Amino acid sequence: MATCEAPLLEVRNIAKSYGKGKKAKEVLKDVSLTLNEGEVLGIIGESGCGKSVLLNLISCLEPLSSGRLLFKGEDYTGRKPASVCRWFQVIFQDSEAAFDPKITVRESMRENLRLLSGNVADADRRIEEMVSLMGLDPKLADRYPRQLSGGQVQRMSIARGLVTEPNMLLCDEITSALDVSAQAMILQYLYQLRKQRGLTMIFVSHDLALCSTFCDRIAIMNEGRIIENGTPHQIMDEPQQEYTKLLLDAVLYVR
Ligand SMILES: Nc1ncnc2c1ncn2[C@@H]1O[C@H](COP(=O)(O)OP(=O)(O)OP(=O)(O)O)[C@@H](O)[C@H]1O
Ligand SMILES: [Mg+2]
Repeated sequence: MATCEAPLLEVRNIAKSYGKGKKAKEVLKDVSLTLNEGEVLGIIGESGCGKSVLLNLISCLEPLSSGRLLFKGEDYTGRKPASVCRWFQVIFQDSEAAFDPKITVRESMRENLRLLSGNVADADRRIEEMVSLMGLDPKLADRYPRQLSGGQVQRMSIARGLVTEPNMLLCDEITSALDVSAQAMILQYLYQLRKQRGLTMIFVSHDLALCSTFCDRIAIMNEGRIIENGTPHQIMDEPQQEYTKLLLDAVLYVR
């Protein structure tokens, strides 16, 4: 039964396999995590370890092979993506593929608003405001995704996620195509949203240094498992797992 003490999100022992029989490959293995309202969880791990699959499962874009998903204590395992998109907005790693190439970015954002609130009366004002907050000229919203640069599409994709004012944002390497100043501006804005309305976030990144300043907790993933989970201080200064130590050595090495 749902209680007010329940975490905002609870992921219980989830697993995901692709393929059948002998060809089946388990890409997520017994992953559990909890996230309280207003918390930001960073997820770090090498390419292919299952970060994007995990976000797809949480947002019901793909079915689980086993395990349970709970939002505010309510079991939502197996629901349709449309029924949970009010709670979660995913900002995808591949921003251009996330937009329909046949419609303008503005139409795509309107679609998202219509789906979520049914109310599009002030949609254009909200879209333009959000696009400006991402440091872009609102006129760019009238272009098709292919007419924008990689960094512009990525910022439009963040704007589209935020314009619906979700409870929770699932961010999949959202700043990877941005220059340092655009990255700082967007992180600053997300930080402000956390302060103003307690926005909860999962923040997938390859940047351990960035996660250590931006996140409340960091989960380290390796080969489909969360192998370590702690505060940035615990992860950066007192890592328990050899793999985490290797990641930290790599950060120090490239500096
Ligand atoms: N639809 C699918 N069918 C089969 N295998 C898949 C599918 N989607 C993902 N995988 C596999 O699952 C594993 C995890 O993929 P995922 O995209 O989650 O990695 P990631 O940690 O996000 O990597 P990156 O940092 O490169 O984005 C990979 O081995 C990938 O090949
Ligand atoms: Mg990924």
